[in-house]
Amino acid sequence: MNRLREDFHREFMTFFERAERTRRWNIFNDVPWERLEESPRDERLALCAETFCGVEMYLPDYLRAHLELMRGDYGRAWFAANWGYEEAKHSLALREYLHRSQQRTEGQLHDFAESVLARQWIPPYDDGRQMTVYGSLQERTTFVVYRKQRELAQKLGDSVLAEIYRFISRDEMAHSRFYERMLLLHLDEDREGTLADIAHVLRTFRMPAADLLSGYDERIAVMRTAGIDRRVFLLEVIGPMLRALGLTRHDLPGPGRERGLWSPKKDVSP
Ligand SMILES: [Fe+2]
Ligand SMILES: [Fe+2]
Repeated sequence: MNRLREDFHREFMTFFERAERTRRWNIFNDVPWERLEESPRDERLALCAETFCGVEMYLPDYLRAHLELMRGDYGRAWFAANWGYEEAKHSLALREYLHRSQQRTEGQLHDFAESVLARQWIPPYDDGRQMTVYGSLQERTTFVVYRKQRELAQKLGDSVLAEIYRFISRDEMAHSRFYERMLLLHLDEDREGTLADIAHVLRTFRMPAADLLSGYDERIAVMRTAGIDRRVFLLEVIGPMLRALGLTRHDLPGPGRERGLWSPKKDVSP
């Protein structure tokens, strides 16, 4: 266990150094806001941006769960603090976009925040390692979702929103890589138990919080236009994640290998 703690800390320092040296971005200076004047408005893009802004807004709940589960683990707790700072920028950037592009008023955004925060997100697992698997899947899924939204924004000529999604998706990929590094350490320490946790989370995974937002059905319908279905989830989320861990689905124990996950029907939209 001591070795694992030391390894976690080392991984965190690597993550943090890379973030500080190569990945920091600034909402006020780095987003090309001046281009908003020439950007077309598209309500589908605005509704998606608002939805992601809402999902990112459950940050206090995510952070609380993270810190409670990782209590006493220095490397993981410091990661949570840094991760929280990066995630805070995601909802703020999208909020700024909605406001500066005049697609939402200050009043609407405050009402939205209030309705979002009136509900609480409950972590789906109470085990740190399972939450690490969950984190890795969730971050990779948001990476794919933001990448697709970026492509859509580009296609529709909204270069400001496209640039915001570029910054955010780069952060999400870095987060998922960190969680994958954690899982590699867990696999080294307890391969069987970690494989069982991966299989379990893959079978039961749902994206966080989107179903807590009001107007969920309408949001999901709009997001599907550039969204993520089961095929994309298998090919672009689970496949790359397992590869990054040096695994195939045949390494996983239990029913996830034969059915359910691999011919899934459930909705994973964010
Ligand atoms: Fe995020
Ligand atoms: Fe993230």
